[in-house]
Amino acid sequence: MRQLAQLRDEFTRFMMSYEFGVAEMLTKINILREEFTHIHRYSPIEHVSSRVKSAESILRKVQRKDVPFTLDGIREGIQDIAGIRITCSFISDTYRLAEMIGGQSDVTVLETKDYIARPKPNGYQSLHLIVEVPVFLTDRVQPVRIELQIRTIAMDFWASLEHKIYYKYDRNIPERLLDELTEAATAATMLDQKMERLHTEVEQWKGTTGGTTDRFDIPVPAELVELLARHRPIIDGKNGDGRIGGQ
Ligand code: GTP
Ligand code: MG
Repeated sequence: MRQLAQLRDEFTRFMMSYEFGVAEMLTKINILREEFTHIHRYSPIEHVSSRVKSAESILRKVQRKDVPFTLDGIREGIQDIAGIRITCSFISDTYRLAEMIGGQSDVTVLETKDYIARPKPNGYQSLHLIVEVPVFLTDRVQPVRIELQIRTIAMDFWASLEHKIYYKYDRNIPERLLDELTEAATAATMLDQKMERLHTEVEQWKGTTGGTTDRFDIPVPAELVELLARHRPIIDGKNGDGRIGGQ
């Protein structure tokens, strides 16, 4: 009986670690979104959603994939217990975001699948990353794996429709619909490419004219800017004669 209670407790902590991992990653994504928006005057991210698989769904996958039935075995064998889906406006942003996340010193990229460069035969496109982040618990550091799916709005639109059709026809989609889905995927790609070209043009135009404001555009008093400019060498850690700080 005591052993059972202990197992239950361990499994709860196992599930919690994934919730914490997702929370950590969502904070990272949010920071990137806000800062990027401030610098580039547009948001590279349209939408973010996340989920942690239910215990039932994990167990089904353990049986299906013949994963060793231990917590470590499940951690190793099932990569998508925690999942985050990021929808971007433009193809270039999907790669940019993947690089920004993967480049962080506490994020380890274990696997990348680029279904944008190489779509699946049915037309599915998305950038998939399996990343690992450390979660600091009371008594240890627990590395947690998260599946990131990064794609454009058009790719996401296609994937959610395909998913619905897949389940409606119980995995046996009629040939005619398959053809139409492939056509729709091609149309989505063309739309993405056209939007990317237009976006690049607007970016160049913004580069010459200044662009709009964002919510971090707080009024900075001219005196403060002047003061910062005068002390810049000190802030940067050097002041011309090699000394740190001082006048
Ligand atoms: P699992 O199938 O999840 O065990 O892993 P895998 O190794 O096949 O991973 P993959 O990266 O190919 O797919 C992971 C996830 O991407 C899936 O669980 C789906 O959420 C999504 N995905 C992959 N292929 C398709 C597809 O053809 N259509 C849709 N709608 N989603 C897909
Ligand atoms: Mg999956």
